Amino acid sequence: MYLPYISYIYNMSYVKLGNTDLEISEIAFGAWAIGGWLWGGTDEAAALRALEAAIDMGMTSIDTAPAYGFGLSEQIVGEAIHGKRDKVQIMTKCGLKWKGNSGEFFFSARRDDGSLANIYKYAGKQSIIQECEESLQRLNTDYIDLYQIHMPDPTTPVEESMEAIEKLLQQGKIRTAGVSNYSTEDMARAQTVIPLASNQVAYSMVLREIEEEIVPYCIENNIGIVVYSPFQRGILTGKIKPGHYFKQGDSRPDTPYYKTDNIKRINEFLDKIKPVADGQHVTLAQLVLRWTLQMPGVSTVLAGIRNEEQLKENAVAMEFVLSSEEIDTINKHLEELELLLEVS
Ligand SMILES: NC(=O)c1ccc[n+]([C@@H]2O[C@H](COP(=O)([O-])OP(=O)(O)OC[C@H]3O[C@@H](n4cnc5c(N)ncnc54)[C@H](OP(=O)(O)O)[C@@H]3O)[C@@H](O)[C@H]2O)c1
Repeated sequence: MYLPYISYIYNMSYVKLGNTDLEISEIAFGAWAIGGWLWGGTDEAAALRALEAAIDMGMTSIDTAPAYGFGLSEQIVGEAIHGKRDKVQIMTKCGLKWKGNSGEFFFSARRDDGSLANIYKYAGKQSIIQECEESLQRLNTDYIDLYQIHMPDPTTPVEESMEAIEKLLQQGKIRTAGVSNYSTEDMARAQTVIPLASNQVAYSMVLREIEEEIVPYCIENNIGIVVYSPFQRGILTGKIKPGHYFKQGDSRPDTPYYKTDNIKRINEFLDKIKPVADGQHVTLAQLVLRWTLQMPGVSTVLAGIRNEEQLKENAVAMEFVLSSEEIDTINKHLEELELLLEVS
């Protein structure tokens, strides 16, 4: 078990993604927060150290995107993988743009320098080809292991976006292709052009919508499920209490889960499942990640990580297994919590 004060050899586990031969770590490094934007800034040196340590310990799969800090996250990842490209699996994305106004307007938010960024969902064919080139440059590589369309773009036919992806596959610039935040209908349309490796979707103990349609569809069609925001952006680690200080530019306090009443309810729930964590000699963060990983259909869990401390804690979720009794206990408390949370 993880003891922070002695050196420790991690036993990582890997899974084949969907119907592909791409092997990824079951817990993967989520690199959104290290881009800084919408997270109150970033400590680039700490992020780089965490990424290098992740690769060394065997958490070799990293998820990033151009939109994470307007290229900064991809650049840091590019630096971290220098000289280690054959050891890592890079998952990045296209289709969320901050330049131009093609596609569907998504949202606006201030950059850290105070200027306003307008984000559009746009997955036109030429745009995807161009975005891929830019990502390859920032990542300092000549291929991407898993290329994902970040969000469905209602202004472009899904089939057109997939034609661009097909071309990139043929050129060897991407090894496998997936989508993110896609409905079952959009996945079915995409699959008429190329086989999808995966759908990357939001899933946590307190956000379980995918269980209704996405999970059964993906299981039936052998499409991998790459889960994001398993801590609901941090609150499920138990470290966020009412009155928590968030840095300027951190978007979390503006989201429903971070309303004071919900913070209280989530912490009361965490207190109730703490005995399960104690019984396994793990932390709440480790328990939450493990529960997420063991849910039906889940291939890999993206844990957002900013520093080595979080990395080492989160990696342990690959090293123990929850019994069905333990999962039932957690789910019973989750049913009670669901009735209390106000997140709409
Ligand atoms: N496809 C999409 O649309 C989409 C959307 C969201 C995320 N994602 C991907 O999924 C990844 C994970 O999701 P996420 O980053 O949104 O949220 P998350 O994994 O639920 O939470 C990440 C945050 O949790 C905190 N944390 C992590 N490990 C911790 C530990 N051991 N102890 C204490 N705190 C810990 C950190 O908060 P602090 O920052 O306070 O340190 C970290 O920034 C992202 O990085 C990104 O790659 C994709």
